[in-house]
Amino acid sequence: MSLDQLIIALDLSTVEQAQKTIDAIGDAGVFYKIGYQLMPIGGLQLAERLSAEGKKVFLDFKFHDIGATVERGVASVVSLGGDFLTVHAEPDVLKGAVDGRGDDPRLKILGVTVLTSLNQDSLKKSGIDMPIEDLVLKRAEFAAEAGADGVVASAKEAAAIKARFGDALLIVTPGIRPEGAAINDQKRVVTPADAIAAGANYLVVGRPIIAADDPAAAARAILTEIEAARP
Ligand code: C5P
Repeated sequence: MSLDQLIIALDLSTVEQAQKTIDAIGDAGVFYKIGYQLMPIGGLQLAERLSAEGKKVFLDFKFHDIGATVERGVASVVSLGGDFLTVHAEPDVLKGAVDGRGDDPRLKILGVTVLTSLNQDSLKKSGIDMPIEDLVLKRAEFAAEAGADGVVASAKEAAAIKARFGDALLIVTPGIRPEGAAINDQKRVVTPADAIAAGANYLVVGRPIIAADDPAAAARAILTEIEAARP
């Protein structure tokens, strides 16, 4: 079983809580995502520690700035020893990130296509009239052209991305909800099995694991579902 296909989002309010969750998940957790919530309050040190302990680390910083600034930011991130880093999937941002990563063999750059908390209505409110899938594919194209390693997208668009880009882009999908789990603020959710069947390479799961009474059991149940659905 490829345990690292499950990325567990450490969306918790303190590093101590994150560490407790990591300890509770034990061997079922190989790949952890650190985002805004922990980043300013010890998340970077946690990332370095996890990395030194042999875990994989997804730095979900979603950089979005002028290319030169992104490039310098990513060059600084390289020293943390992470495996995945997100930036928004705009051409200049992606290019800055790829340049900033340089020849680091480990850090993979992922372009965020369209957040899974957005739907067609929310895009329209921001003045974007394009169908969601077209926008996701356009941004995936930007990622491929810039030499990024993959994209973050809803599993609802995974099959279209796979069909267009094959193995040239890794597909990382949040918005995953096992059957019967609470949806929270996500709008476009897919089960773990359906996401893998659609071509996702990695699943990002937060609340269904970290808010479960038994986070290790919740993680193992998802791993079993991934294993059963793998093509
Ligand atoms: O708790 P839940 O499983 O909804 O967490 C999903 C995680 O994936 C969150 O950390 C969220 O920031 C992240 N994410 C997302 N949609 C994206 C990119 C990242 O939900 N497009």
